[in-house]
Amino acid sequence: MNAVPLSLLPDTARVESDGSLSIGGRRITELAAEFGTPLFVYDETHLRARCREAVETFGPGRAYYATKAFLCGAMARLAYEEGMHLDVASGGELHIALHAGVPADALALHGNNKSMAELRMALTAQVRHVVVDSFDELDRLDALHAEGLPVPKVLARITPGVHAHTHEFIATGQDDSKFGFNLGNGDAHRAIDRMRRSPSVQLEGVHCHIGSNVFEASNFAKAAEVMAAFANPLDLPELVLGGGLGVAYVEGEEAPSIRQWGNVLLDACQALGVRSHVSVEPGRSIVAAAAVTVYEVGTVKHIPGVRTYVSVDGGMSDNPRPVLYGSGYEAFLPRAVGASRSERARLVGKHCESGDVLIFDAALPEGVRVGDLLATPVTGAYGHSMASNYNKLTRPPVVFVRDGDARLVVRRETYDDLVRCEVI
Ligand code: LLP
Repeated sequence: MNAVPLSLLPDTARVESDGSLSIGGRRITELAAEFGTPLFVYDETHLRARCREAVETFGPGRAYYATKAFLCGAMARLAYEEGMHLDVASGGELHIALHAGVPADALALHGNNKSMAELRMALTAQVRHVVVDSFDELDRLDALHAEGLPVPKVLARITPGVHAHTHEFIATGQDDSKFGFNLGNGDAHRAIDRMRRSPSVQLEGVHCHIGSNVFEASNFAKAAEVMAAFANPLDLPELVLGGGLGVAYVEGEEAPSIRQWGNVLLDACQALGVRSHVSVEPGRSIVAAAAVTVYEVGTVKHIPGVRTYVSVDGGMSDNPRPVLYGSGYEAFLPRAVGASRSERARLVGKHCESGDVLIFDAALPEGVRVGDLLATPVTGAYGHSMASNYNKLTRPPVVFVRDGDARLVVRRETYDDLVRCEVI
């Protein structure tokens, strides 16, 4: 088996003369010694380059970073500094973005079940857009208008009836979806009529998002076609086509770049006669390949004739994606990144259940031993953001590296953090 493909590693990843990996000019082995494991290491240059690529492709303020993929104050600030707006999907994400100093005018609030408190927060802050998802939400916005809150600028989330080729849990554009106003049954038109007549909202455009980790450009082109047919006669200023661009996680996978994806969408919109401003909301494609997670091996269990289990000091609490979606990952030794990987093992975490798997059938270098560092690439999206305290593990820290500097942007949780919310 081959060494881990360098194409899966962050932009500034380098193999040093001793065969070890550095990112942002810092050796992973040194970072692990300084910050401990498990550890999320993000390449800041990579993050900035992807944000810039999105902004250059779609235009300033036309690319919203979907913060659900990975959010902390430093990331919110970085995306905004690079010219992105931010998509927040809850009061908590809104709070973190505002707390980081991102202006409300650069934020769009999403959610299929926004509470009164979340909507009140968004209206009070005067976010750029509330993306309205349901008739019940319109009722809540009426109530808030009656309370005297500012009238929000809104987009209507449309469910276009386009089935994206991805995992069922992350496909959102098909008719059978909890999200948005369905086009097929007339709800979309009814919602637009109501919003146009409503004094509680100012309708600025329409929105769709067909799903996440989608690789086929034709899926996006189809959504653009359906949305253009719906949106063109409405003659509204904004059309948002969501996020969803897939990324390569394992050897052999290939995904379009943000620029290629953008060109497909923008060309399709132009050909379809779209006059609205076209915006997008990429999450995964901005952050996924920017990070690696670094673990330490704690046990190696050989079961002759069955398999080998290699256990690391994290697991489903820092990366639930293999368990949730059956997602594949690669692993490598940061001290010998070019080592060929001739052994097979199941890479597992330290949680008290057999389902706690990071890689079901990992290709590993020969002789991985207790105390080795192992890293998994492409963990920058939906890893830290979906992390939990299962088994009361403390969530790992996040370090941004750039030009030889390592900046701790989220510290490791402590046992005191674990009891912080308890009332005894
Ligand atoms: N916009 C909306 C309205 C969304 O619902 C999402 C993702 C995005 C944008 C960003 O999509 P992206 O560019 O990241 O694909 N936890 C799952 C992914 C869930 C995505 C939910 N919505 C995973 O780990 O694969």
